[in-house]
Amino acid sequence: MSAAGFDATGASLLEIIAHLDGALAGDAPEAWLIALDPDATAGAFPGEPIAGGRHRPLRVWVELADRLGLRLRGPRPAGPGRLAIGFARRTTAPAPAVVDDDPRERYGAASAFARLDKREEPGFVLDLAEALERARLPPRPRVLELGVNTGDAIALLLALHPGLAPQVVGVDHSASALAVARARFADRDVALHAADLADLPTLPVGRFDLVLAIGVLQSPGVDDRALLRHVVQERLTPTGAVILGVPNCRYRDGELAHGARMRNFRQPELGLVIKDVAFYRKYLQQHDREVFVTGHHDLFVTGVARASRDLR
Ligand SMILES: C[S@@+](CC[C@H](N)C(=O)[O-])C[C@H]1O[C@@H](n2cnc3c(N)ncnc32)[C@H](O)[C@@H]1O
Repeated sequence: MSAAGFDATGASLLEIIAHLDGALAGDAPEAWLIALDPDATAGAFPGEPIAGGRHRPLRVWVELADRLGLRLRGPRPAGPGRLAIGFARRTTAPAPAVVDDDPRERYGAASAFARLDKREEPGFVLDLAEALERARLPPRPRVLELGVNTGDAIALLLALHPGLAPQVVGVDHSASALAVARARFADRDVALHAADLADLPTLPVGRFDLVLAIGVLQSPGVDDRALLRHVVQERLTPTGAVILGVPNCRYRDGELAHGARMRNFRQPELGLVIKDVAFYRKYLQQHDREVFVTGHHDLFVTGVARASRDLR
């Protein structure tokens, strides 16, 4: 700990933010403060006056660090009923590695993205699990994943539904990510195509009970509207479901920051995300799907055929 820490036990949130802004305005790599241990007063509201100061659940410190673009450190015991909580600068993340200057390898096996296992993100796992439940897949579903990368979503589907025997088709333009996926699913019915998504209409892959497109529709060069139209009209069975994942976060120095970020905005600006989600929702509804919008760091738009319950 760099210093004893600012006594924040009785401070308001605005005072805490002002303190952190000031403490980190120069070269200081981190700032610490002292807070009350929230375990003793669980159930109180954030900032609610209690004996000795104000109650603040750990969630407040996690969110504050995220919103200020800082890394949370601690909490550590700091005397009876007290915790020391640190806020450290994140280092600027290097740009994702682009192998041989090939933009198709931006998310390839040699990129920083390859270190990320989406199955270790609670929101991703819980929200995708719920979306998959809603899809009500038959025992041997045909599943298409666009932007499959190394196959984290497919791995999650297999782990969550061990009774299913899916026939999976994955499309991605990163040859190195597909090589990892090929090894990962060697004993499964998984066919992987190295192709640009613009060429999906030319791939003779048929129709599917589920189409997944997670974190790919907003990629540079992808015409998300045209792709969605093609998927709904040409790639879904009459009872087929779609799950579209729209990132509402970004990683920096290993930390997940909530909300789409725009240049010159300190806090998330969600205008484009909301516009895209609204388009997907409306389009799917117009094509006879019941639509659910869920999620937090990753938003999921799930479209389920209205007639699916009657037809299965
Ligand atoms: C951010 S990653 C998401 C990967 C995975 N769906 C997930 O949720 O972890 C986007 C993926 O889409 C692929 N991709 C982006 N644009 C593409 C395009 N035009 N054609 C094919 N694949 C593309 C990238 O190679 C990458 O694997």
